[in-house]
Formats: sequence, structure tokens, C-alpha cells
Amino acid sequence: MPAQHNLHLLPQTSQLRALHTVVRDRHAGLDVFVLHSRRIIRLLLEAGLDQLPFTEHHVTTPVGATYRGLKHTVDICAVAVVRAGESMEAELRDIHPGIRIGKILIQRDKQTKLPHLYYSHLPPGIADSHVLLLEPMLATGGSANAAIDVLLKAGVREEHIVLIDFIAAPEGIRAVAEAHPQVKIVVSSIEERLNDNAFMVPGIGDFGDRYFGTTDSGA
Ligand code: PRP
Repeated sequence: MPAQHNLHLLPQTSQLRALHTVVRDRHAGLDVFVLHSRRIIRLLLEAGLDQLPFTEHHVTTPVGATYRGLKHTVDICAVAVVRAGESMEAELRDIHPGIRIGKILIQRDKQTKLPHLYYSHLPPGIADSHVLLLEPMLATGGSANAAIDVLLKAGVREEHIVLIDFIAAPEGIRAVAEAHPQVKIVVSSIEERLNDNAFMVPGIGDFGDRYFGTTDSGA
């Protein structure tokens, strides 16, 4: 497991567990799955933004008082690991309308479970940005590590990367923490384990397929 300060598990509230109960149900319809996933994604993104640096910012309230607040002063962009990571883009745009979003296309080989990098297109100036890396499933961690390597090659600093995962297996968290110890991980649930097919248990099935409606099995 990564150093405590680099692993951020959302508070396991009853409300969050109720949302998970809906999306993990193999009988959840596409509309229900998308609605409830998006509510969890919103919580993850807000928690991810909380990992970025802030500086003091004071404003005057309508009653003339000073509110000693905070604001982000760093450049922020996002990179989605296609395809499942694209499910997080709409929520992110709602929170942060002007954010630039790069893409990295990685697909896990169905037999070997190893990630294959096909394509990447990153925002200019990404080396000076803090990056929210959108990758809902952290199973073996191979895809996330491959995506992080693409960012590092582009000049992004490891400590400037916040990996946003919907769910994660202990094996995947460990793999990322070992290869990239300074990357921060934000996740809404840590699963029990991986099964023989490298799917998480209890898990959620194939998130990309379920979110985009490209399977009718739900798994
Ligand atoms: C799934 C998932 C992650 C990856 C996680 O992607 O969306 O990207 O596997 O597995 P790992 O941690 O073992 O690498 P997949 O390749 O099935 O593509 P998809 O996004 O199109 O579903």
C-alpha cells in the first residue's frame, strides 16, 4: 500500500455505500448505472481537486465581512484513459468548465491482461500542470502505470499526478505505489481481491462496457 498520505479513500458513508449498491447490482439498467456512477464520480473529482495545492484568497461577503478563503493557483488539466476514463469527463466539465482534457488510449489484452498503449494526445504545457488522471478501474494496475509513464515522459512531475479511480484492488494500489510512490490515488472503494480473470471482487464488472452500454451481460 502507498504511504498513507498518498492514498485517499472516500469516507465510507451509508450514502456512498447505497450508491455502490445500485451500480454493483448486475441487473442495474444502463440509465440507473450511469446516473449513480456519475454521483460517485462527482465525489471522487471533488476529492481529487482537494489534493491540489491552494493558496489563501480573501473575499468580501454580502454583509461586508471578510471570508478568509482558499483558491487553486496552479494550472490543472485532466487526462482520460480511454475508454472507461471518458466516463468521468462530463462531471469534470460541470465542475471545471474550462479544463483541458488529454487522452491516452490503453487497452488491456483480454488474454494476457497486459496493457497495450495505442495512442496519446496531451494538452500543450502539460509538463507544468497538475494532472487528474481519469482511470476508473485499478485492477492489476498495469494500465494506470502505463498511463503514468506516458505523463512522466511528457515531463509531468510524479507528485503532480492525482489518479482518480472508481474502485481499486489492493494489488493495483500496490503496483502503482511501488512504481510511482509519489502519485496520489483517490478511490471510492478498495475491493477484496482480483479473481483468476483479473477482475475485481466483489467488483462491478467491466466499467467501460457497463457505462457505455456495450454489453448486455452487465459483467
Ligand atoms: C479496463 C479498465 C482499466 C483497466 C484496468 O480497461 O477500464 O483501464 O482495464 O485493468 P488493469 O489495472 O489490470 O490494467 P479495458 O482495457 O478493458 O478497456 P475499456 O476502458 O475500454 O473497458
